[in-house]
Amino acid sequence: MAATLLDGKAVSQQIKEEIRDEVTRLSTAGQRPPHLVVLLVGDNPASVIYVRNKMRACEMVGFSSTMKRFPEAITEAELLRKVNDFNRDPDVDGIIVQMPLPDHITPQKVTQAIHPSKDVDGFHPLNVGLMTLNFPCLMPATPSGILELLRRYQIPTKGKHCVVVGRSRIVGRPTSIMMSRGGQPGEATVSLCHKYTPPEDLARIVPQADILIVAVGKPGLITADMVKPGAVVIDVGTTRVPADDTKSGYRIKGDVDFAEVKDKASFITPVPGGVGPMTIALLLRNTLDAYKQRFDFSHLLQTPSNSYEDES
Ligand code: GUN
Repeated sequence: MAATLLDGKAVSQQIKEEIRDEVTRLSTAGQRPPHLVVLLVGDNPASVIYVRNKMRACEMVGFSSTMKRFPEAITEAELLRKVNDFNRDPDVDGIIVQMPLPDHITPQKVTQAIHPSKDVDGFHPLNVGLMTLNFPCLMPATPSGILELLRRYQIPTKGKHCVVVGRSRIVGRPTSIMMSRGGQPGEATVSLCHKYTPPEDLARIVPQADILIVAVGKPGLITADMVKPGAVVIDVGTTRVPADDTKSGYRIKGDVDFAEVKDKASFITPVPGGVGPMTIALLLRNTLDAYKQRFDFSHLLQTPSNSYEDES
């Protein structure tokens, strides 16, 4: 039987409508809308499209948005100064610097420069630490989008074996942490495979997955013989491959052989239309949360309360 599609396009639309309703309520109450600033260095074609999609999504929900483009040759110091200007601007709620950055700029320095309360990508070490320990914080949008899909399709995760393939700072690693943490979705047994996992180990571990999350960028990496019957398959891959039957001359391919795997899985994300639109929806939700100053971190300076679940 063919798998049920995890329809990220439809779910993200629902989330955007929820956000738009909230922005309408804010505006009726005389408040300014949330404001997202996106910094883009150079002209990587995929990044240009991602950023344009983020701007469009802001417009759809009634947010203000600003895109600042910089030449590839901008110095690291200059980029850090720009980030700092937006940190200090009280009319800016969220800041993202689109990755990847040119080689002369250290991404960790840029990530660390964004104030944690405006870090709507959830990449700052403070937010990553808080996320890991299950404290309230801004969490990375793609992993949050994956968990939101699992939540809205009511897919149980507790005690399941979740195999994550790819250990990137943006997707694989935070997803592995979020799937193992307390809460629903969460509480899974997690295996994290990456580029140093020998192919024979990958072939042994992936078929054990009840929930398989793949974020590598290698089309066709996951074939049907590697998927356990009835597994939930989430494909985060977005590789451009040349195509002569599309207007753009390329098409986006995931890491999973969708045509084969859809007949073996119980749920599967399409590419495009799966995780991609969820990332944008969760970025918008983070921006709304940052606007509401939900995460001011002052709770970290108070005596610990007993309101956090002990999940040791
Ligand atoms: N590049 C690819 N994905 C992302 C993302 O989620 N945020 C940023 N800033 N850059 C990216």
